[in-house]
Amino acid sequence: MSDTYLSAELVKQDLDTSVIGKEIIYLPITTSTNEIARQVARDGAVEGTLVIAAKQTAGRGRLQRSWLSPEGVLALSVILRPQTSRLSDLIMIASLAVVHTIKKTTGLESLIKWPNDVLIGGKKVCGILIENGWRGITLDHAIIGIGVNVNFNPADYCEIADNATSLSSELGRHVSILAVAHMLINELDSLYLGKDVFNDWREKLVTLGHPVNATDGNAITSGIAESVNRDGSLNIRQHNGTLVNITAGDVLINLKSDT
Ligand code: BTN
Repeated sequence: MSDTYLSAELVKQDLDTSVIGKEIIYLPITTSTNEIARQVARDGAVEGTLVIAAKQTAGRGRLQRSWLSPEGVLALSVILRPQTSRLSDLIMIASLAVVHTIKKTTGLESLIKWPNDVLIGGKKVCGILIENGWRGITLDHAIIGIGVNVNFNPADYCEIADNATSLSSELGRHVSILAVAHMLINELDSLYLGKDVFNDWREKLVTLGHPVNATDGNAITSGIAESVNRDGSLNIRQHNGTLVNITAGDVLINLKSDT
């Protein structure tokens, strides 16, 4: 059996979770696990249903970007049905679960670039896309989509070659996707059902204290990333002293201008 082989049975085996992974949909190839999760969530899938694929042909990223997802990239989406008041926790839970998973399965240290990119040595190893489904003003479901670069070489893809890494590139060896998937599902479950993660998430943020340029649509805010709020938003101290609160968008950390 290949180390990269997955199946619903294998993923489910020895899972020690209360909610996440109670139902597992495994697809050898699909467009986007977030898209499949959205469809089954609308059809009433239970909370914790997990969609996992060996390969995506139309992986979706944040801000309408695409996400490269050949074999070797762990692609999974979890359907949750939380209270609306918990929505902002999901970003923190997902990114922290990935940081814990990477540490526990490989020993590697990773950090979070606000709001939820996971980086190793400044390069992106994981992206997270959270999409919510509403029925009128009521939250029906939230989908946490996570892509982890496990066994692939970003250098083979010019569009990400400079900014991305993978677990295998960092370690110089193959990493079991199944082991990473198992750990990630367990971590997600325990953080989702456990205590408040805000302080742990904040401690893992690489962004704080650095000069940043935050882009949200056409608006660009430059300054020092000063702090984060309980709702996950970021406070940037502009050069004129004004504090600006950012709730979404993309943040470029300007490490070169650090002294
Ligand atoms: C980003 O950094 O822009 C977010 C990338 C999220 C990718 C994952 S892979 C599993 C899930 N399915 C998708 O289509 N996207 C997410």
